[in-house]
Amino acid sequence: MNERIAICPGSFDPVTFGHLDIITRAANMFDKLIVVVASNGAKHCSFTPKERVDMIKKCIPTLNNVTVEHYDGLLADYAASKNATAIIKGLRAMSDFEYEFQMALTNKKLNPNVETLFLTTASSNMYLSSSMVKQIASMGGDISSFVPDAIKADIIKRICSKKQ
Ligand code: PNS
Repeated sequence: MNERIAICPGSFDPVTFGHLDIITRAANMFDKLIVVVASNGAKHCSFTPKERVDMIKKCIPTLNNVTVEHYDGLLADYAASKNATAIIKGLRAMSDFEYEFQMALTNKKLNPNVETLFLTTASSNMYLSSSMVKQIASMGGDISSFVPDAIKADIIKRICSKKQ
């Protein structure tokens, strides 16, 4: 039987417990999961693609069927190049829905062989976002509830150096 391959795309600037919950659950559903650090034209990122990839890798040392990559083109093309049949996205509140729905329909048009699957976020992560984490870090707050210890120092170092 063919391997079931999924991709889990996002900006991950930086990865949070919310993303990691979705990644872990998706990894249990597929033979292989590729986490893709992709470009969102509407966002200016604080971390380089390589830094974002490295931070994700530091957070998932035990997920053996997960790889992490950076890709700069269209997600639909990337999915085709990897023989992926699913794009996994996490949905927090209804406010995410319209944007995600638009992307899912566009990706389906560009690559009819790939389905977008939405996983509902854990209720504890409902209001968690990367931008919130950065804002808290920039004001000297404790980000321990939002990101793993493995990347806390990386985030604080970058956010605080930007302030100076
Ligand atoms: O975490 P984000 O910022 O919500 O993720 C959005 C992302 C990066 C998945 C999206 O912008 C994307 O797919 N970018 C790749 C370029 C692309 O395919 N754009 C068309 C999407 S319909």
